[in-house]
Amino acid sequence: MDTHTLETTYTGYASPEELPAADRELIRQAIESTARSYAPYSHFAVGAALRLESGTVVCGNNQENAAYPSGLCAERTALFYAGANHPQEAVSALAIAARDREGRLTPQPVVPCGACRQVMLETCLRQGTPFRCLLYGTERILLIPDCRQLLPLAFTAEAMG
Ligand code: THU
Repeated sequence: MDTHTLETTYTGYASPEELPAADRELIRQAIESTARSYAPYSHFAVGAALRLESGTVVCGNNQENAAYPSGLCAERTALFYAGANHPQEAVSALAIAARDREGRLTPQPVVPCGACRQVMLETCLRQGTPFRCLLYGTERILLIPDCRQLLPLAFTAEAMG
């Protein structure tokens, strides 16, 4: 028998002012992107902004559908847009923000769902480098230096031989 413990390292911040300018700008763009969300069913508007190694910022937001599972989260909308239009460029950071049904930015950071974590992980494997994740809330911001840590014991192509 052997027992293992997996650790996730992240840092909490009380305000964007504590972060470098480039991170603040990425968070600003994630917040801005919530305005273009299409969320008539959940009324939860999520925005994502990712920075590519060239400095280009790609934004995405959740796009819902009357056939609920046909919709897509903000993170995957941004990641798939980057993959579709900038396939040779590595992602260096991803910021996420969200507004509740009253349009208020959430006090606590929004964390990506499991399916988005799976896509984030494969993005890292594909590009050969990890990327940073900035999860925004008005009262607290989390910085996860290596997004792979959000999905320990993940299913990857390796499992298929
Ligand atoms: N959603 C995201 O876009 N990203 C997340 O990290 C969490 C959830 C979306 C999916 C759906 O449109 C709405 O938020 C409610 O779950």
